[in-house]
Amino acid sequence: MKQDCPMYEDLSEILITEEQIKNTVKNLGARITRDYQGKNPLLICILKGSSVFFTDLIREIDMPLDIDFMAISSYGPNTVSGEVRLVKDLDCSIEGRNVLIVEDIVDSGKTLAYLKRILNNRGAASIRIISLLDKPSCRTVPLAVDYIGFEIPNAFVVGYGLDFNEKYRNLPVIGVLDEKMYK
Ligand code: IMP
Ligand code: MG
Repeated sequence: MKQDCPMYEDLSEILITEEQIKNTVKNLGARITRDYQGKNPLLICILKGSSVFFTDLIREIDMPLDIDFMAISSYGPNTVSGEVRLVKDLDCSIEGRNVLIVEDIVDSGKTLAYLKRILNNRGAASIRIISLLDKPSCRTVPLAVDYIGFEIPNAFVVGYGLDFNEKYRNLPVIGVLDEKMYK
């Protein structure tokens, strides 16, 4: 995407560049390749936010793996996290599987705490979480994230899959959405 695309005008700052994202995703893929040797992991994409990260990440993992998709919606006003609801469940069983949940961002921790609660009693061999972004200062529910790409401050970010009102998912960078867009 060209830098003069009008979407860039809605950002107050570019927080993470395409190149930084690329390097980090590559490193995460290498770590997962090491940690899951011989385990045929099942990677779960949490729609829609993690779709871009997910498709890049799986191509940096050098071994056989399976994929599946889940959709969660979180109802809250504007940029605030709200109640969480399951919109689409997995197609496959996770019994005996080494599961890796792939998220775009952990904010309050509510979404992933809810997901772990649902998946915990389905007999998986292991369940771990990878998130591209983490806002540790926003946590209201205690939650351990096993792999993190970037820790970021408490700001509302868009791009690389992350949206505001379904927009900006196709931005190749991660940027802070200018407050004028939602205040
Ligand atoms: P949590 O349940 O509060 O941890 O929020 C997680 C979900 O809220 C993520 O999967 C995102 O879809 C969304 N979210 C949280 N922070 C942001 C942000 O800064 N930009 C875009 N979406 C966000
Ligand atoms: Mg979202």
